[in-house]
Amino acid sequence: MLVHVIAETPEKLHKLGKLLEHKHVECELLSQLGLVGKSFDVIVIDADLRVPKNILDLKALSNRLSHIPIRIFLVDQRTRLCQVQALALGATHVLFKPVEPALLLWHLSPGQSARPLTDQSHAWPADAASEGAASIASMFSAVLSGGPTDLRNVRQAGEAIAQSIAEHGLTDWLNTVRRHHEGTYQHCLLVTGIAVDFGLSLGMKPLDIERLHTAAMFHDIGKARVPLAILDKPGKLDDLERALIETHPEVGYEALKSTRDITTEILDAVRHHHEYLDGSGYPDGLCGDSIADIVRMLTISDIFAALIEQRAYKQPMPRDNAYDVLRSMKGRLEKPLVDAFRPVALHR
Ligand SMILES: [Fe+2]
Ligand SMILES: [Fe+2]
Repeated sequence: MLVHVIAETPEKLHKLGKLLEHKHVECELLSQLGLVGKSFDVIVIDADLRVPKNILDLKALSNRLSHIPIRIFLVDQRTRLCQVQALALGATHVLFKPVEPALLLWHLSPGQSARPLTDQSHAWPADAASEGAASIASMFSAVLSGGPTDLRNVRQAGEAIAQSIAEHGLTDWLNTVRRHHEGTYQHCLLVTGIAVDFGLSLGMKPLDIERLHTAAMFHDIGKARVPLAILDKPGKLDDLERALIETHPEVGYEALKSTRDITTEILDAVRHHHEYLDGSGYPDGLCGDSIADIVRMLTISDIFAALIEQRAYKQPMPRDNAYDVLRSMKGRLEKPLVDAFRPVALHR
């Protein structure tokens, strides 16, 4: 994959060149273009789109740009105006600065294809959240009706959430989801966003981020069979109600296991996201090494999301208090992972 990098200043060019040093990259300044006739697979452009001269220079390029399948614009301002300007200049992807290196490299991984322009709106938290909620609704109704679950649709919605998190950050995501979505949908969207951000903060590879967001989207699918009156009960659950809720990992696993193309990793995450390292979790009382890394990350994201949720009967717990709860779960959660989760919980 040959990448063409264009920037308006030597500093920006140097920074990008360094970030992409392991790729086949050719760099040049926007004011001194000489390579535009060459055949590239990807072009990455870093230029301030509030500067009219830059817009004119890029407009002059736009015909030749259209032959490059993936055209990534890095824009300085987190506004729809800058995004629209970049799209008008031929961008297939718009990333906001500071750009998460993992996200940029993700777009340059083999197998990533250009999404149509109209899909760009999915990078906005509200749009990604709506797409995610629609996907969760359809998988819940599939479980209720015993019909097949569309794995591709769930992956796509997860990818839109991942892109939104990488571009706009976790805080925007949490606020958007808590404002517009309720109950189990809100919970699944929060867990997905938090798990993705956790993965990005650890510099995980795109394929692992995809595993994480797919597992997170599916993790509570078994709750489709638990009555809403119990799921949304404001007070304390009695033993019978608690036992019913605790069936959801197994119910989810059973509902998904015959889904076409579902992987054992995803099934494992659905079944075991309530297991603890000391064996005190459910449904199988797994301990230690028998709990996979991706499941441990999902469990931390799941507990944190449950604590900071906005519900009709409960105020969301502040993020720092929720992180203290995770830290207090010594022996049950992996300490180094909880430590690594700190920036996600508090700052990102
Ligand atoms: Fe769960
Ligand atoms: Fe959950």
